[in-house]
Amino acid sequence: MSFAITPAIPAGTLSASAQPSIPSDDGELLLRPWETDDAPVLQRAFQDPSIRRWHTHHVTSLQEAQDWVAASHRSWQREQAVQWVITRVDGEVAGRMSLRWMDLLHGLAECAYWVLPHARGTGVAPRSLAALAAWALDEAGFHRLELAHSVANEASCRVATKSGFALEGTRRGAHLQLDGWHDMHLHARVQGDA
Ligand SMILES: CC(C)(COP(=O)(O)OP(=O)(O)OC[C@H]1O[C@@H](n2cnc3c(N)ncnc32)[C@H](O)[C@@H]1OP(=O)(O)O)[C@@H](O)C(=O)NCCC(=O)NCCS
Repeated sequence: MSFAITPAIPAGTLSASAQPSIPSDDGELLLRPWETDDAPVLQRAFQDPSIRRWHTHHVTSLQEAQDWVAASHRSWQREQAVQWVITRVDGEVAGRMSLRWMDLLHGLAECAYWVLPHARGTGVAPRSLAALAAWALDEAGFHRLELAHSVANEASCRVATKSGFALEGTRRGAHLQLDGWHDMHLHARVQGDA
């Protein structure tokens, strides 16, 4: 079957190059691909109650963390998702950013993130999300990036708003979490947005 439209991002375009590392505007943070050596910190991240609360996939062992890192490399090769570790200039891991559910035909993807407890409240997530969005919309060719969070997750709502992801509405009963179904805020940033 052929497409009636020209793909926003032709298949094979992203995977033709290595996954990029992306600095934040202020140069204080770097989004880089996960490495096998990051597996212990990834495993520890999922011991944090807030990260466990807001994510439906948990990493519960070192082996799972190592498998997750390997899967993140395959996801880039298959152009399905991109996973970055957020580091400070000294190399310390501060969190994670991702683009998932990538639809290259229509240039759509969804952003997801967490920040380690010690690094919260210093703008790590909004600065990293802004850097991710600049790469995805201005360089990679995505047209629209979405972001969804539970209406109960006010910190995530602040991150979205501060990073230029406008609130578009509420999807009712859209996500099953540990404590039941949650209404979800839908935010998005579209190519050309300020
Ligand atoms: C939501 C989260 C990613 C925010 O990351 P961050 O780098 O701390 O983001 P910010 O520094 O911009 O802080 C965002 C908001 O968190 C709140 N906050 C501030 N300091 C905080 C702290 N020490 N601990 C927790 N939250 C704090 C504030 O409401 C802040 O908003 P404000 O800047 O308008 O005051 C992070 O708290 C986190 O990883 N939480 C657990 C997992 C999660 O919720 N992931 C998102 C799922 S959609």
